[in-house]
Amino acid sequence: MLRQKLTEAGTAIQAQFDAVLSTFDDLPVVHAMAHATNGGKRLRGFMVLESARLHGIDPAAAIWPATGIEAQHAYSLVHDDLPCMDDDDLRRGAPTVHVKWDEATAVLAGDALQTLAFELVSHPDVGRGDVRADLSLSLARASGAQGMVLGQALDIAAETANTPLTLDQITALQRGKTGALIEWSATAGARMAGADLTPLQTYSRALGLAFQIADDVLDVTSDAEAMGKATSKDADAGKATFVSLLGLDEAKRRADDLVTEACDALDIYRADGDILRDTARFVVTRTS
Ligand code: IPE
Ligand code: IPE
Ligand code: MG
Ligand code: MG
Ligand code: MG
Repeated sequence: MLRQKLTEAGTAIQAQFDAVLSTFDDLPVVHAMAHATNGGKRLRGFMVLESARLHGIDPAAAIWPATGIEAQHAYSLVHDDLPCMDDDDLRRGAPTVHVKWDEATAVLAGDALQTLAFELVSHPDVGRGDVRADLSLSLARASGAQGMVLGQALDIAAETANTPLTLDQITALQRGKTGALIEWSATAGARMAGADLTPLQTYSRALGLAFQIADDVLDVTSDAEAMGKATSKDADAGKATFVSLLGLDEAKRRADDLVTEACDALDIYRADGDILRDTARFVVTRTS
């Protein structure tokens, strides 16, 4: 049921990328952008579409921010995989952009995906100007030095630090690195409707943390074939993660508690929130 909905969302988002990128020049950087936006679970885009549905927003409007957040996420992955960052060769079961092309193309494709994200979330078809401005401003805040980039910077700094991070420090790091874009995604529909963001904020803060705990667990328990990306990276890099700090069992237990917390936050949506509740459960039971 949820799988099917994720697949449908993924197909719609892919079609939107195809339509947008087909109007761009036939250049390596554009091919690299298409490569980087292909595949993945589309979880963030799905959460935009689903939070929009919850608030009665037209899917034809919501598809733009849904595609936009997937462009932003893809940019973060292209740069995350660079040799100066995590130095990864495999992403979504395919060679990373700097491997398939070169580092300069990967930097530029990431840059262009980031600006494309803002172009998409502020597309005229999204609706009123103030809504488009709000989506853009909040995406900028979620992405930059107070959000995703902050988390990435703390993550990289932790690799060379002498003392391992505390649980509070890891939680703060993950809130930026993974949490910020997830929170933006889950609250986007409420933003578009001018509704109260609080329930979806509480939901997505818990879900974002559960998502990263699951990523850390899978880094230890899964393999590259299932994940479509290298595993055992965190331990090899000497990174403190939820798993290295808490152990596997306690990390999984925390993730489960966070899922319960996320689901409870959706009480005001009653049964209409069931798909987002399923999404929270999926985040910790996923195998890739
Ligand atoms: C991977 O995100 C990067 C992290 C924030 C841990 P996803 O697991 O959502 O990656 P895709 O989009 O499905 O490939
Ligand atoms: C990357 O986190 C998160 C972002 C790209 C912001 P990771 O480095 O843990 O992600 P994976 O494991 O490479 O997907
Ligand atoms: Mg990383
Ligand atoms: Mg990485
Ligand atoms: Mg990881």
